[in-house]
Formats: sequence, structure tokens, C-alpha cells
Amino acid sequence: MIPFVDLKSQYAAIKHEVDAAIQGVLESCQFTLGSEVAAFEREFAAYCRSKHGIGVNSGTSALHLALLAAGVRAGDEVITVPFTFVATVAAIDYTGAKPVFVDIDPRTFTMNPEALESAITARTKAIIPVHLYGQPADMDPILEIARARGLIVIEDACQAHGAEYKGRRAGSLGDIGCFSFYPGKNLGAYGEGGMVVTDNDEYARMIRMLRDWGAEKKSQHVFKGYNYRMEGIQGSVLRVKLRHLEAWTAARRRAAARYDRLLAGSGVPTPEAMPYARHVYHIYAIRTARRQKLQEALQARDIQTGIHYPIPVHLLPAYADLGYRAGQFPHSERAAAEVLSLPMFAELTAEQCETVSCVVKGLAAESSACAGGTLKAAKER
Ligand SMILES: Cc1ncc(COP(=O)(O)O)c(C=O)c1O
Repeated sequence: MIPFVDLKSQYAAIKHEVDAAIQGVLESCQFTLGSEVAAFEREFAAYCRSKHGIGVNSGTSALHLALLAAGVRAGDEVITVPFTFVATVAAIDYTGAKPVFVDIDPRTFTMNPEALESAITARTKAIIPVHLYGQPADMDPILEIARARGLIVIEDACQAHGAEYKGRRAGSLGDIGCFSFYPGKNLGAYGEGGMVVTDNDEYARMIRMLRDWGAEKKSQHVFKGYNYRMEGIQGSVLRVKLRHLEAWTAARRRAAARYDRLLAGSGVPTPEAMPYARHVYHIYAIRTARRQKLQEALQARDIQTGIHYPIPVHLLPAYADLGYRAGQFPHSERAAAEVLSLPMFAELTAEQCETVSCVVKGLAAESSACAGGTLKAAKER
């Protein structure tokens, strides 16, 4: 069996360190926030090359608080992409603001800066580019437009721990960066977790208060806040794992390069890493017009895959109230219909990559023989 993500072998490799860290929290009884969370905040902020890190209980909470700190309120508009995990849009909705979509660049699956300008209105307050799959969005043109229009840029870096754009770390590119430590992420907690990073002292102060009931000191509630605190055990586990992140990222990049080599010439479009990016391959998504067939062929050989994401957010029933229709964001819609995520984790072996690639290539060859048109279309894209 080749799993999509292999958390068990990761745990086996770091069991001693993780067990000792959790034991430390059990003994200190610092179960929410506390010294382990504070240390992890400092260490992860430094890793992102940001001044402040504020630990929270999920990536969704990180986005929600970043938006509130940026002053986003009901009646405002926030621009993002529809080809993302639903949480990006949910966080905007929590503030009462309206999510406004722009399409993606089909080569990178991230925000197309050229589509941005026409989506800006007098109500626009912020922009959330999503560094989908672990590759940063093309940030310079996005930041240039935002600066010219006085808009705040909040990075959804929930899939991009350690990713880089022109040598700068994801999370530190815009005004505020948001991370998720959901267990399957490149840096994953043993439960839920998230972090906001920023260089801005005032945003950091507000987010720190908002995550803990809006209180500056115990019982001094300055704002209407939330219970979004990070747990001590998660902070301790994440500190251990952060020490391994660079090695894990290097291993992911080697596995991605191996897939690239094995699938080259098969006619199956593989992910395009842009020259400006250090892609950290949270997801390795190929494109195929015969997705269901390929997924079934892989499943028949006990190879797990995923689809991130099958329905773009503007077409989800939950967000029908936004009033979008099919056909409005063709690149997002096409990506949603064609992407297939192959197994990707740091411990993935060369042999496992070969087994997966063999099945993918086998079906591609079969389809070129019996459905050449489909493959030709994929190649031309
Ligand atoms: C792009 C993106 N945004 C936001 C989130 C939300 O993070 P969480 O699940 O930690 O709330 C995720 C994580 O799944 C994500 O992948």
C-alpha cells in the first residue's frame, strides 16, 4: 500500500523527541499557551524571517484574526481565488465582508495578478493570495497593485511552510502571513494548530489579544475576542518538528523531481515550479482529463490519491449567496476538474515514486492509443 501521506513513519522516526516533549507539557501542566507555545512562536517567526509569531488553534483562525486586525468588517470586500480550500473564503465570511474572486494562472494554480486590478472597488480592503500546493503566488505584481491602492495583503501560507519567493520566505512577503499546522501539512501538529506571522507591531498586539478573548491582561477585555489559543502540547510537538522541516522539505523536493523525471514525455502535465519559487510540494498535483479512471487504476494497486479541490469555492452550494455562476473562472473550474494529487511525503521512497509513475504512465500510454485526442489536448495546454 502507498498512502497519500504517511504520518506513522514520520512519528516512528521522531518518536523519542516527540514523546519527551509531550511528557514535558504533561509535567508542566501548561496546556494552553505557556512556555512551549511562546518558544515555538519565536522559533517559527524566525524561520519565516518575520518579527512576530502568534500561535492559534487553526489556520482558519489565523486568517480570521489577520482580517480583523487589518480592519476588515461587514460591508468591505476581500479579493481571493476560488481555487483554494474553503477555509480561505470562510474566514472572509466570518468577518461579514464579501469574498470577491479572481481567477488563477493555470500554470501555477495561484492568483493571476493580471486579473486583480479589475476586481478592485471602493470597498476593497484586503487581498488574500493563496500559496497553493506549496508554491508562492507571484507576489511582486500583487504587492505593487496593493501598495498603489492602499490595500492590505494577507498571505494564505497554510500550504507553504518554508516556501520562498525570490529568496524571501512565504508569510513574510505581504503584511500578514497565515499558517495551518493541520496534521497532514508539511509542518503538522498532533491535532489542530495555526500561526499568524507579521512584522507589524500593532497587528501582532491586536491578534495576540483577539486570540485570547480580546484581553490585554487577565480579565481586561479590550476587544470582543475569541478562544483561538494554541495548545501547549501542539506547541511542544511543533517545536520538535520544526527542527526537521528543512530536511523534510529537501526530501519532498527530491521526490517531486523524481516524479518529474519519471513522468517526463508521458504527456501527463506535471506541476510547474516557477523560476521565482522554492516550491515545497505540500501537494504534487498532475493534470489529467481522465481523472476518475486514473484514480481508480491507482486505487486498484492500493495507491492512495487526493483531489485538491474538486469544486472551486464559487460553485460550492455553501457560497451560492455570493451569486457566482459556472464559467466565470474558467481556469479554476478546469483545474478543479483535472487535478489529481499523487502520494507526497518526506519518507516517500524512490521505489514508491516509480510504482506510482508506472501506473500513471501506463494509463497515459493506453489513452494515447485509444483516445489520442485527450492526450493531445493535455500536451497542448
Ligand atoms: C489553503 C488553506 N487555507 C486555509 C486552511 C485552513 O487551515 P486549518 O485547517 O488549520 O483551519 C487550509 C488547511 O487545510 C488550507 O490548505
